Amino acid sequence: MCGIVGYTGSNPALIVLLEGLERLEYRGYDSAGVALIENGKLHVDKKVGKIRELVKSLWGKDLKATAGIGHTRWATHGEVCELNAHPHTDGEGNFAVVHNGIIENYRELREELERTGIDYRSKTDTEAIVHLIALNYRGDLLEAVINTLKRLRGAYAFAVITTKEPNRIIAVRYGSPLVVGIGKGENFLASDIPALLPFTRDVIPLKDGEVVDLRPDGVFIYDFGGNMLTKEVMHVPWDIISAEKGGFKHFMLKEIFEQPRTLGDTIRGYISRDLNLPFSLKDFRRILIVACGTSYHAGLLGKYWIEKYVRAPVEVAYASEVRYSDMPVGEGDLVLAISQSGETADTRFSSLALKEKGATLLSVVNVMGSALDRESDYTLYTHAGPEIGVAATKTFTAQLAVLYALAVSEAEEKYARMEELLKVPHLVEEVLSRSEVMRGIALRHANNRDFLYLGRYLSYPVALEGALKLKEISYIHAEGYPAGEMKHGPIALIDEKMPTVAIVPKDRVYEKMLSNIEEVLARRGKVIGVGFEGDENLKGLCGDFIGVPEVEEDLTPFLTIIPLQLFAYYIADYLGLDVDQPRNLAKTVTVE
Ligand code: F6R
Repeated sequence: MCGIVGYTGSNPALIVLLEGLERLEYRGYDSAGVALIENGKLHVDKKVGKIRELVKSLWGKDLKATAGIGHTRWATHGEVCELNAHPHTDGEGNFAVVHNGIIENYRELREELERTGIDYRSKTDTEAIVHLIALNYRGDLLEAVINTLKRLRGAYAFAVITTKEPNRIIAVRYGSPLVVGIGKGENFLASDIPALLPFTRDVIPLKDGEVVDLRPDGVFIYDFGGNMLTKEVMHVPWDIISAEKGGFKHFMLKEIFEQPRTLGDTIRGYISRDLNLPFSLKDFRRILIVACGTSYHAGLLGKYWIEKYVRAPVEVAYASEVRYSDMPVGEGDLVLAISQSGETADTRFSSLALKEKGATLLSVVNVMGSALDRESDYTLYTHAGPEIGVAATKTFTAQLAVLYALAVSEAEEKYARMEELLKVPHLVEEVLSRSEVMRGIALRHANNRDFLYLGRYLSYPVALEGALKLKEISYIHAEGYPAGEMKHGPIALIDEKMPTVAIVPKDRVYEKMLSNIEEVLARRGKVIGVGFEGDENLKGLCGDFIGVPEVEEDLTPFLTIIPLQLFAYYIADYLGLDVDQPRNLAKTVTVE
């Protein structure tokens, strides 16, 4: 949902901005731009397309500016074109703004500004911000920004520079993420922490309602009333290496192969430190899981485990649906919010609304210091490290590990369960060692345009997640379905052109799944089976088969999802698609 960077110091700003933008490109990549204060004048360059287009256009320009801001866009208002790309400037060319999020009252502001004779150039909601700041400027950029904030409605983060105060950047967070990076004689700004890691590991994640005044020799943070705040600097444990591709063709592939380690880190974290929650899940009348996308699928699995071990009623809801529902939630309910980024607007705002109604808010997040982390009563972290590929992989399995640890944390057999869970990283490694088999299967099916993914019980969310991976990165239509529901409609779709991916570990619904596969075969459907190694019965039914090591029922999703991640990856790569940055998507969705 757009990435913002900023730099002020004594080194060439452009280098920092471009490096930061490349690391933020996963947040949006339809156009990019920078604004620099070069010899007292504003220099703006923007290009449609990825950051490399911007880099090409800057090639050979000897820009020495030591302060600037940059942006990579995921269009919300106004089509993808250079005019709508950021930074946006005022009519005089003295101010430049980059913005992430949405200004909801932009129409009203535009009409008002045009009535005063201001000449609008773009179709964006952002342009209002820069004109308002220019109008409010009386010699102090901070004051102009604070006065402008009174006019803005929506959820946003933005940064502004001006020729009138060349080394100063003012930036604001209100609903979209923004992190300050602290250097020596230089300071940085970015939409997330990985973009800052090449330069510093000392950061201050801003909270909603905060304004930062960034200068080479200091960082000053204020609330929207202009009162100065005291903030703690956080030292980030991740290093730059974990945010690099490490020899893999794509981040997604690297992240798939990292799962034995990230699962190990997450599981060992909970074994050594326990969950440290000052309550019992049994104390709650009800547990409501809210999440989006892949995190929602993790939530569906969490429901099964929590119901089994805690015996408490659990509901799972799409965050975007729950926010505007009349669901009766209040004191005595636990809201369990799951989010890799901790910045997803739907998840944050629905969880906060439920917290306001009296529910306790526990979250599972990957990004420490993210908004959801700070806004929750309690947080459980997945220790998966930065995930750069837009399609979530290692954070999904890390979420499963946390949810499983949470579910069994009060069970009598807790230690036995956790010991079993500890075997998972090694078993995942075994599955990954068969990646070439999966590659072969993927290439045989890469030209199909529709897929059905079927599973029951714990394999149903796995089917949903497998289908989502395929759609996201290969643009192939894929439907995840509970296998028992197939006969109530989707069976009509089956023919030789629509392969079915069936997830069939030997669990409580194994026999039922075999019957469902027979139903597919009877309609000339082709079946790709994912089951336990050595399951000759299943293998005999399926045109293609991939085996995973035998594991107890509870833990099957950790293994069966791996071939499905690989399947999606190899198809997308074979089709020559942009695996890490699929079209129309963004890693962190900070709009509703
Ligand atoms: C799928 C994917 C998205 C996210 C969803 C929620 O691969 O990445 O569906 O899972 O946007 O994001 P988080 O977990 O950051 O709240």
